[in-house]
Amino acid sequence: MILLVNGPNLNLLGEREPETYGATTLPEIEKMVEEACAAYGQPVKAIQSNYEGALLDFLHENRHEAKGVIVNPGALSHTSYALHDCLKALPCPAVEVHISNVHAREEWRRRDLVAPATRGQVVGLGPTGYYFAAVWLCSQLVAQPAEAVEAAEGEAMEVPPTDLEPVVGGDYEG
Ligand code: DQA
Repeated sequence: MILLVNGPNLNLLGEREPETYGATTLPEIEKMVEEACAAYGQPVKAIQSNYEGALLDFLHENRHEAKGVIVNPGALSHTSYALHDCLKALPCPAVEVHISNVHAREEWRRRDLVAPATRGQVVGLGPTGYYFAAVWLCSQLVAQPAEAVEAAEGEAMEVPPTDLEPVVGGDYEG
């Protein structure tokens, strides 16, 4: 199972600062990740919360089943030692995603407290970053049971997904 974790304000994707984050909604992103992981026989369990503790509880509760975590912590990336520690405590790898290029925006967004606790980041590539994170995590998993492979063969996956908008432009004035 792959966990998909989205932090504060990401429920507003699609209407929130579309010039920075684009028009893709969170349900569309969740569907894209589910389809990408289904091709590898991996189910996805998703959460979005505006509460740091709810994200930590979700990660704790699912830590034994999780084979990987895709996490966009939102602004918690820049503030949360607790999320850093939580990801470090997990037995599986985490990949951090940022839709926008946080390095090309305000100075404070360049400080990422969560990043050192992750295996890697996909930053600034728009919503497609979630897809890349999903494919990387799934491709790291060792051989799946035969039934999972058979299930995956039944799934028609578009690679890359064609229904996503292009990456949003980088005119970040803050
Ligand atoms: C974000 C970048 C963060 O700095 C910001 O607080 C967000 C979204 C991104 O996906 O680009 O909420 O994580």
